Parts: sequence; structure tokens; C-alpha cells
Amino acid sequence: MAEIRTVAIIGAGTMGRGIAHVAALGGYRTVLEDVLPAALRNAQDEIRGNLDKAVELKKVSASDATAALDRIEYAGSPEEAAREADLVIEAVPEEMESKIEIFTLLDKVCRPGTILASNTSSLSVTEIASVTYRPKKCVGMHFFNPVHKMKLLEIVRALETDEETISAAAEVGGRMGKEVVVIRESPGFITSRINAMIGNEAFYMLQEGIASAGDIDKALKLGLNHPMGPFELVDLVGLDTRLHILEYLHRTLGDKYRPAPLLVQYVKAGRLGRKSGRGVYEYPEKPVQAAQN
Ligand SMILES: NC(=O)c1ccc[n+]([C@@H]2O[C@H](COP(=O)([O-])OP(=O)(O)OC[C@H]3O[C@@H](n4cnc5c(N)ncnc54)[C@H](O)[C@@H]3O)[C@@H](O)[C@H]2O)c1
Repeated sequence: MAEIRTVAIIGAGTMGRGIAHVAALGGYRTVLEDVLPAALRNAQDEIRGNLDKAVELKKVSASDATAALDRIEYAGSPEEAAREADLVIEAVPEEMESKIEIFTLLDKVCRPGTILASNTSSLSVTEIASVTYRPKKCVGMHFFNPVHKMKLLEIVRALETDEETISAAAEVGGRMGKEVVVIRESPGFITSRINAMIGNEAFYMLQEGIASAGDIDKALKLGLNHPMGPFELVDLVGLDTRLHILEYLHRTLGDKYRPAPLLVQYVKAGRLGRKSGRGVYEYPEKPVQAAQN
């Protein structure tokens, strides 16, 4: 099995920046790329801030944090980011067309042995891999938000993924400090399928006026021992990301995943969660952005 030394990450949003943080801390040369220069600048600040906090809390030594920051490079194009990578992890928005565009490009610019991974929360890695000439080297690596804190990595075996690729992804996950589960591809894998169901049900309850968002969150935290309520979680994940997942589960697995109309309405209004300053709850520290659609 070829050794992984350089990890490139395409997309420096909520997930991409977190994956860059754990990759660099795991000792990999890490190259982060985004189509928006502002996203890269924010990512750089956030990674530095999170590493500083980890040092303060004595979870990471100051020298390890400095070494990790030194291992991260910021690239201006996916070609530049991926050219020398042994593993590329795609973390662009949850839309099949975007994933396919990136994988088509990566397949052209990367070396034949380079592993191409997607951080998709629900989409078919088999379908994404089918646009490449290396479906055996394509795999799902599903990280969780916030990446530097969450312990799990779901590794998704697509139809053609070979054993060597699964082993390499598991080894990288281990070096990033993650516990790994390997699953056979199925829409939503384990976690997104169950989580989307709970979150959608919560929106139906809110829409039906059964309880306030705060009380629904409180009930799941105190009655079912969930660490976060479903609305706190969806504000963190992004309502648009959750809606994309539900739409896909609805198409592939049937009617029980039909997105709650209230969720659709919030997304249309631009209430995307913490990242836009307002989701189910309001976040006064972030400016409210205008709706994109
Ligand atoms: N947010 C979560 O909690 C979470 C958890 C697990 C997995 N995921 C998955 O991770 C992926 C990314 O989600 P996110 O929440 O980080 O999204 P995000 O919207 O926060 O970030 C996506 C980033 O990709 C960039 N981008 C868009 N098109 C690009 C392109 N062609 N090339 C380079 N960069 C591009 C955007 O500018 C943005 O910065 C999705 O597939 C999502 O389903 C998200």
C-alpha cells in the first residue's frame, strides 16, 4: 500500500477546514483549496483559533499546534491543490453535480494511484466514482461536525472500492484521531439516515405547533440523553445541507423522508443556521445574510 503523505482538501467551508485541521495535526502535509478566497482566509483564522484553544485546554502541545499550522498550505485552484496529493478529500456542497464536476477534474490532474474521497453525508459514492477512470480508488470518508472534536469517521465502501483503498482511508482516519466504521454504500449511510429522520420529525412537530423549538430540544436532551437538541444540531450542520440530504433520501428511500415544509421555507428565506446568522435560532454575533435563492 502506497504511503499517504500529502492530503488535499477541496472546499474550505464548515467541514473542509476541520478536515484540514485534523489532517495537519495527524502529521500530513495538507493543502486546502476553495473557490472563494474569503472562505480560505476564514478557514485559516478558524484553524488557528481552534488550535490555540486546544493548546489552552492542554489537549494539544504548543509545538504540535505550531507544527500543524506549518503543514497547511492554501491553494488557489483544485489543480494546484491536488497535483501532488496522495489522498484528496472533497468537501464542497452536497449537490451531485458539484461532486461530479470536482471528481472529473481530480481524475485528470491526480496521479493514477491517488485516492479520491468524498465527505458527502448521503450521496452515492458509486455514482460520483463512475465519472472517473479509478472507481477502485474512490471512497466515502464521512467526517462529523465539528471535525476536530467528533470522534467518528464513517468509511463508505462504494461498489468498486478496493480493500487497499479502504485500509488506507482507515489508517488516515486513525492518524487523524478518529474511530472508524466501514459500511457498504446505502443512502445516508448509518448516521445521516437516522439523524435526518429525527431532525425532520422535529420540524414537523414545530410546524404542527406541538411545542416550541426550545422545548423540543430540551425534551431530546433531558429525556433521551442527546447531547444536542435537533434544532441546535441543524443550525450547526446548516439547514440547506440537511435539506439536500432529506431530498436525496426522499428520492432514494421513499416517502417517510419527505422534507418538512417548514424546513424548506426556512431555507428559502436564507435561514441556513449559524453560518448565516439565523436558522431555527438567532446568532447575533454573525451578520444575517440575504437569501441566495
Ligand atoms: N455541515 C456538516 O455538519 C456536515 C457534516 C458531515 C458532512 N458534511 C458534508 O460535507 C460537504 C461540505 O459541507 P459543508 O457543511 O462544509 O458546506 P459549506 O457550505 O460550509 O462549505 C462548502 C465550501 O465549498 C466551497 N466550494 C463550492 N464549490 C466549490 C468548488 N467547485 N471548488 C472548491 N470549493 C468549492 C464553498 O465556497 C464553501 O466554502 C457536504 O457534502 C456535506 O454534506 C457536512
